[in-house]
Amino acid sequence: MPELSVVVIAQDSEQRAVLQVLVDGTSVARVVHTCTSYPVVVTDPVLRRVQSAAPQVVLVDVPTDNYTLALRAIELIHQEVRDAVIFAVGSMSQPQVIVSAMRSGAREFIERPTTTTDLLEAFVRLTAAQRKVDREGPRGKVFTVVNAKGGSGATTTAVNLALALHSAHGNVALVDIAPLGHAALHMNLKPQFTVADAIRNLHRLDSSLLESFMTRHSGGLQLLAGANTPLVVEPATAEFARLFDLLVGHFRYVVVDASTRVDATTRLVCNLSETVLLVAHADVASLWSANRIQQYLGETGGRERVRLVLNRFRKIAGFSESDAEAAAGAKLLWKIPNQYFAVSGAIDRGVPLMQQAYSEMGRSFAGLAAALTENDIEVKRKAWSLFKTV
Ligand SMILES: Nc1ncnc2c1ncn2[C@@H]1O[C@H](COP(=O)(O)OP(=O)(O)OP(=O)(O)O)[C@@H](O)[C@H]1O
Ligand SMILES: [Mg+2]
Repeated sequence: MPELSVVVIAQDSEQRAVLQVLVDGTSVARVVHTCTSYPVVVTDPVLRRVQSAAPQVVLVDVPTDNYTLALRAIELIHQEVRDAVIFAVGSMSQPQVIVSAMRSGAREFIERPTTTTDLLEAFVRLTAAQRKVDREGPRGKVFTVVNAKGGSGATTTAVNLALALHSAHGNVALVDIAPLGHAALHMNLKPQFTVADAIRNLHRLDSSLLESFMTRHSGGLQLLAGANTPLVVEPATAEFARLFDLLVGHFRYVVVDASTRVDATTRLVCNLSETVLLVAHADVASLWSANRIQQYLGETGGRERVRLVLNRFRKIAGFSESDAEAAAGAKLLWKIPNQYFAVSGAIDRGVPLMQQAYSEMGRSFAGLAAALTENDIEVKRKAWSLFKTV
C-alpha cells in the first residue's frame, strides 16, 4: 500500500496534534501539512496551501459547538481540491452534522475520540475502493475464513479451499492468522517461519523474501504459517495491512484462516477481503455467535461481503436455510456435508480431503472454490472466446 499523503485541518491545537500522531501511527499515511483555520472563500490562502500540498486525503475536524465553518470548509475543499478525498472527524451525537458533512462532500465521518485503528480502516477502505476504480495492475483476491464458534471447521475450510483454488488456478497463498495456527498440522508441514517473522522483516520485505518465509505444500500451495505458541505481543494492525498489500501483489488468491481470532486485525483483513466465510453449524448457539461476529465485522462497513458457510450440514425437519440466514444475519454461501470420520482422519494424517480424489468432501470444496471465483472465470471465458473468433 503506497503511503497516503494527508492534510489535517483543525482549529483546536490539541485535536490537531492528536490527529497528526494518529495518522502517522497508521504507518500507511503521513501528514504533509496541517492548517489551524478553515478556508471560507475560494481566495482563502489556507485553501491555496491545501492545494499546493496535493494531498490524497484531507482530514477535517468538525467541532461539536461550532461546526458551520468546518462544513463550509468541506464543501469548498470538495469543489476546489478535486483529487483529494475528505474525511470528517466529529461527534456521532449530532446526526444532522454527519448528514451535512457527507452532503458537503465528506467521504467518511469518523467518530471522535478517534483511534489509529479507525483511521487505518478508513485508509484501507479508500485504497481498496480506488484500486477497483483504477484497475491497478493484477491484484490478488483475499478470502477470509472466520469461525462463528471454536471448532466450527474454519481451518478445514481454509485449507481445503486454498488447495481447491490452487489446483484450479495456481498461485495461491494460505495465511494463518489464528491465535494458534493449525493449518500446518492439517497439511503435515513443519514451517520454519511464521507470519510474525514476515512482519518483523516488513521493512525489507519483497516478494522473494516473503516466499522464503512461506512453506510449500507438495502441490505448490504456499503457506504463511501461524503462531506455534500464543503470542504475548501481537503485531500492530497496520503491519498486517502492509503484509497483505504485498501478498495480493504476489498471489492470485490469498486464503486466510482466522479461526477464532476476532479482533481489530481480523476485522482489517476482512475489510481487505473479497468475501468473508463465516463458518457455523446449524444450531442455535452457533448461529447466535455467527450473528454477533457478523455484526462486529460489519461495523466498519462491507456487511454484505460476510457470507454464511454451514459446516457439518444435515437437513433438520422444521429448520430451513432461510431460518439459518435470518438467525446469522448473513446470506448463505455454501453447505459442507457432515463427515466426521473422513474429516478427522484427514486432519490426523495431515492429508487434506482435497488430496483425496473423488470424495464427496473434495467435490464440496471444489464447488466452493468455483462459486467464489465464478466471475473471474467468466472474464477468462470471454477473453478466450474473443480470441477464438478473431
Ligand atoms: N464437515 C465436517 N464433518 C465432520 N466433522 C468435521 C467437519 N469439519 C470439521 N469437523 C470436525 O471438527 C473439528 C474441528 O475442525 P477444524 O480444526 O477445522 O475447526 P476450527 O474451527 O478451525 O477449530 P479452532 O476453533 O480450533 O480453530 C475437526 O477435528 C473435525 O473432527
Ligand atoms: Mg482452526
